[in-house]
Amino acid sequence: MDHRIKRLVVLGGGTAGWMTASYLGKALQGAVDITVLEAPTIPRIGVGEATVPNLQSAFFDYLGIPEDEWMRECNASFKAGIRFVNWRTPGNGAAQPRALHGGVDHFYHHFANLPEHDGIPLSHYWHLRTLRGETDVPFDYACFAEAEVLDAKKGPRYGDGSQATGYAWHFDANLVADFLRRFATEKQGVRHVRDEMTEAVLDERGHITALRTKEGRLLEGDLFVDCSGFRGLLINQAMEEPFLDMSDQLLCDSAVATAIPHDDAANGVEPFTSAIAMSSGWTWKIPMLTRFGTGYVYSSKFTGQDEATREFCDLWGLNPDRTPFNHVRFRVGRNRRAWVRNVVSIGLASCFVEPLESTGIYFIYSAVHQLAKHFPDKRFDPTLVDHFNREVESMFDFTRDFIQTHFYFSPRTDTEFWRANKELPLGDDVREKISLYRAGFPVNTSQAGERVYYGNSEVDNKNFWNNTNYWCIFAGLGHLPDRVLPALEYKPASIESVENLFAEVESRRRHLLAELPTTHEFLRQLHGK
Ligand code: FDA
Repeated sequence: MDHRIKRLVVLGGGTAGWMTASYLGKALQGAVDITVLEAPTIPRIGVGEATVPNLQSAFFDYLGIPEDEWMRECNASFKAGIRFVNWRTPGNGAAQPRALHGGVDHFYHHFANLPEHDGIPLSHYWHLRTLRGETDVPFDYACFAEAEVLDAKKGPRYGDGSQATGYAWHFDANLVADFLRRFATEKQGVRHVRDEMTEAVLDERGHITALRTKEGRLLEGDLFVDCSGFRGLLINQAMEEPFLDMSDQLLCDSAVATAIPHDDAANGVEPFTSAIAMSSGWTWKIPMLTRFGTGYVYSSKFTGQDEATREFCDLWGLNPDRTPFNHVRFRVGRNRRAWVRNVVSIGLASCFVEPLESTGIYFIYSAVHQLAKHFPDKRFDPTLVDHFNREVESMFDFTRDFIQTHFYFSPRTDTEFWRANKELPLGDDVREKISLYRAGFPVNTSQAGERVYYGNSEVDNKNFWNNTNYWCIFAGLGHLPDRVLPALEYKPASIESVENLFAEVESRRRHLLAELPTTHEFLRQLHGK
């Protein structure tokens, strides 16, 4: 008997719907008919513009789409890291970093893995030097060549297009969804139905057999992927799977967003996302050619929509009467199970953690990758389903915990919001990581080199937040280990010879600053503008 799935229906045509359809279109090699049902009357969320570095290798390379091709179609720019601004000093939202200890209040979360010397990450040698008073250079500048390159707004690729440093992308998420829709429908035979689902038809086992639509269609399927956004129409409503609310760990639940024109010729284009601390949350700044996207992510428990909008307008000097705002309310957490019976949820229908580390789109292609690996037949083996659910769960929970530490370790206590973050419970897993960090031990070291790390979904998934990430955030926030890793103190020769590694970082910095074009120059050429 042939148990294979023959018809797959994706509900929703946002980034999640089209990423799912195009990825499975390739993975299932034409053996399954794929239909995307998208309601023209229900808009996509319309935000989601920053990504993480493995988007090309894990997603676009898999589809055979070259980076420059989709970048041109989606008005994409580069993101070579995140600059955290004013996370250590009190005050309302300010675009410029405030003064701090003779320097300024900003630090970078770099897209690079810390090099190691004699099996110990460079972070630990830097820490030893700091304690001995041998350096006062901040961690992100001392251990990475990239910080000054970002300050100088240099791009991550050389003039000939080859890669110089690690990077991800900024783009217009609506353009990405449209680009993938064209790709999936024109090149992979995916069927696109523009209509609104009104009802899910269930059989006696509680499986969905078809979706009924406003215009009278009946779309039958064996497997349904719920990409309907925060509504979770199939997973939460038809399957009645509970959404586990995690607002006790992450307080932000709202955003006010807009796009602001930018004079690139006069000011250049920043090759990084900025995360600017505000009185009750933080604001993203995502530069693209001629404009930047921005949004204040705040907690409605500590500020109202009007007050947040005022602080946001003050930050950028906006006139509230003449600025179009997108007000978004979001849920934080994940479904208890992402996959229930013959419904798999992906995207906002499955889980959402606030966008501080820009992980929403990553969660999508990571979940689709897992779905392709665990792809079922009509018997829906519970072992496969459970295993898939555990993969999604751990990916989400590690990220939620990591993001929570940003707020937890920020030394700010000047508002109710920042004070409340210090009172929230931390998960067991992250508490263990924090203990290791405090004891001077490397946290979740990546076993792979940088290229392998960002080029292999499995390696990346299992080590999603590693020693480099924890150090960038914790040291950036001024939170250093209580002591030096004792093992390091028995390596006087390594402590001396690490000088060569610091010199290499310095020489690479000089090389990059001299050789790289500015982000603006590179993007103008790429986009032919
Ligand atoms: P989305 O809501 O976009 O799409 C839902 C689709 O379902 C639509 O096509 C709609 O028409 C369809 N639909 C709904 N009901 C239907 C019905 N009855 N019948 C038929 N169709 C129906 N991510 C990231 O990676 N980087 C970032 O910087 C950010 N930033 C960010 C900021 C904020 C404030 C939020 C809330 C979210 C982000 N994200 C993000 C997350 C990102 O926006 C999100 O992961 C993707 O856009 C995916 O969205 P979906 O496709 O899941 O839902």
